[in-house]
Amino acid sequence: MCGIVGYVGHRQAQDVVVEGLRRLEYRGYDSAGIALVDGGAIASDKRAGKLANLEAALAAAPLPASSTGIGHTRWATHGAPTDANAHPHLGEKSRIALVHNGIVENYVQLRTELEAAGHVLASETDTEVAAHVLEAELAEAGDLSEAMRRTCRRLEGAFTLVAVDAEDPSTVVAARRNSPLVVGIGEGENFLGSDVAAFIEHTREALELGQDQVVAITADGVVVTGFDGSPAEGTRYHVDWDLSAAKKDGYDWYMRKEIFEQPRAVADALLGRWSAEGQLQLDELRLSEGELREIDKIVVIGCGTANYSGLVAKYAIEHWTRIPCEVELAHEFRYRDPILTRNTLVVAISQSGETADTLMAIRYAKLQKAKVLAICNTNGSTIPRESDAVIYTHAGPEIAVASTKGFLTQLIACYLLGLYLAQVRGTKFGDEITAVVRELELVPAKVQQQLDRCEEIYALAREHADTRSVLFLGRHAGFPVALEGALKLKELAYIHAEGFAAGELKHGPIALIEEGLPVFCVMPPKGRDQLHDKMASAVQEVRARGARTIALVEEGDDAASYADTVIPLPKVPTLLQPLVAVVPLQLFACELATVMGHDVDQPRNLAKSVTVE
Ligand code: F6R
Repeated sequence: MCGIVGYVGHRQAQDVVVEGLRRLEYRGYDSAGIALVDGGAIASDKRAGKLANLEAALAAAPLPASSTGIGHTRWATHGAPTDANAHPHLGEKSRIALVHNGIVENYVQLRTELEAAGHVLASETDTEVAAHVLEAELAEAGDLSEAMRRTCRRLEGAFTLVAVDAEDPSTVVAARRNSPLVVGIGEGENFLGSDVAAFIEHTREALELGQDQVVAITADGVVVTGFDGSPAEGTRYHVDWDLSAAKKDGYDWYMRKEIFEQPRAVADALLGRWSAEGQLQLDELRLSEGELREIDKIVVIGCGTANYSGLVAKYAIEHWTRIPCEVELAHEFRYRDPILTRNTLVVAISQSGETADTLMAIRYAKLQKAKVLAICNTNGSTIPRESDAVIYTHAGPEIAVASTKGFLTQLIACYLLGLYLAQVRGTKFGDEITAVVRELELVPAKVQQQLDRCEEIYALAREHADTRSVLFLGRHAGFPVALEGALKLKELAYIHAEGFAAGELKHGPIALIEEGLPVFCVMPPKGRDQLHDKMASAVQEVRARGARTIALVEEGDDAASYADTVIPLPKVPTLLQPLVAVVPLQLFACELATVMGHDVDQPRNLAKSVTVE
């Protein structure tokens, strides 16, 4: 949510900053802007709309050459997405330029103080307030780092700030509280970014900043301090993916590319989890077997797609471990006074590792002394850093706003966690665990089988180009798949889409059924699952009322009696079925949104990494 870039070095800062913004645009695309330091002054341009608008403006009127600059791509919080509200914002005397990700909660009070002191603010944003405060502090402190520390001590809320001072072209200064910021370490140049994608084409050496830290970068140095001025250090790491992972590689959308990357992503998520002795191993877990044996309740928290992987996890974890498992939306969790103890394991699922709702929920859980385990795709991000334990999903960067490979690899991590708990606690025999692991190892090939059939799904999507409403039905582990299928359509195709547990239909939602309404039905495997026939009856019921039924069924299941269209699924155990059943739904949503002419990677009103509550 909002992308931030900073650069100082030997290149043209405009090129580096704009390129960085292009790679971060998935974090927000309501407006974009840039500021460079040029001969004692700030040169700046900012435009409402996508980055392309800013690029066109810069092509028509390039900013002066400079090797120091900052940039921003915005997901609007305070103030509409206009040119005036776009970042960077300048201070009262235009000495500093500032970009910001997050929300300054006490901005009304600060704005009142500034206006009483004679400041004139040109925008409706909280960021401009911070810019005026920073410039006023700079006039007193004389040094941008110290001014930034003083400013941060006055601000409340969540923020990453990056600023330049017209009178010091050698330095870019940044600060973070509850919002992401990473330093890229180059040779004779250094970078700042909301995530490493901002600078991955220049360096893979990164420095993760801690909470409440200020960093000053020059071409040759990086100095980190706490908000109180005490010396501090970030955590250095090497980024294990390269620029090719952040490119579309011939696909029309990142989302389509990421759907097709799923066989590899699932294989990577499973890599190294099985020891030569035939035992599951979760090396990065950081919780001892003793601690895991004491757990008497699991609460899985997450938002959106991550919440749906949690819903699948509940079926698997309770079945394999017999530990009660609750699943809750992270933003609801802490406001209902949940019962947590030292023996509660809170599993926080987050692809980005930065979702504010989930971050606040884990902080609450830790205050209640619960153990917190993160399932996360982003190395070094805040949620795993603040958790007691972590399982990384190793999906590689997910750039499309709609999650796909993030979801599949979260499921893998949840299955691994459930099986590992069962191994440690002895609730499943070793050969039962081995059998599930063997099934998991077959999943990449089965996902590939689904992808090989993409043309059938694309044709189905094209038939539905005029559809205004779609329902999804599932039962058991197929229910979260129905929810995920509906979410993908809502966010990409902007049409009414709802997922239901099929058993719930007759309690109300069946009233929605009308002639021709498409209803996707995720069928439990036949024969091996008692729910199959009950689900088949639900499908008959909607079909009898005119729905067009599209059934996702295991190969060999004769679904012609109740389905108008059949999408075959490879054979997998019921608990693992979401891994293969969701793939056609992802392909359907991607293609439908494409034929409807929508921007699949950057759906309206959304942003990746929701870093505000
Ligand atoms: C939907 C989607 C979102 C995210 C949610 C949580 O396609 O991507 O619903 O799943 O915003 O994000 P993370 O996993 O980064 O915490």
